[in-house]
Amino acid sequence: MSQIVYILNGPNLNLLGSREPEVYGRTTLNDIESSCTEAAEKHGFLVDFRQSNEEGTLVDWIQEAGQKASGLIVNAAGYTHTSVAIMDALLASPLPIIEVHLSNIYKREEFRHHSYISRAAQGVVCGFGALGYVLALDAMASLLKSER
Ligand code: DQA
Repeated sequence: MSQIVYILNGPNLNLLGSREPEVYGRTTLNDIESSCTEAAEKHGFLVDFRQSNEEGTLVDWIQEAGQKASGLIVNAAGYTHTSVAIMDALLASPLPIIEVHLSNIYKREEFRHHSYISRAAQGVVCGFGALGYVLALDAMASLLKSER
């Protein structure tokens, strides 16, 4: 059976394409999902790509991933900088975790420089726009291969 990588997206990422395009670009979340599906196919695994504006839903999905997936890629969006609950869920997860951000959070406002997600992540990809998701999948493929 194919391995599954969960790709979880947090609040306001459903608005990609029209939301602050000067920061996040014009690529929509559907476009990103298509690139991820294609990239995952090349590596021989499946992706389960989701978005929620709700913190608790993201926590539930992180727990679910622990049961059903082999790896987890997370763009927690605004919750990156605020959510102890999401950090705790990630810390409890047995999976390899990669944190993604479209923008370079270290180039932006001071409050974006701290990430709760990073404490639980193996690595972080930020600043490459939509390409960052594909880079994260490539990195995940290497991590999963080295696990085998
Ligand atoms: C983001 C960066 C966060 O600071 C912001 O709150 C987001 C998106 C990014 O992908 O660049 O919503 O995670």
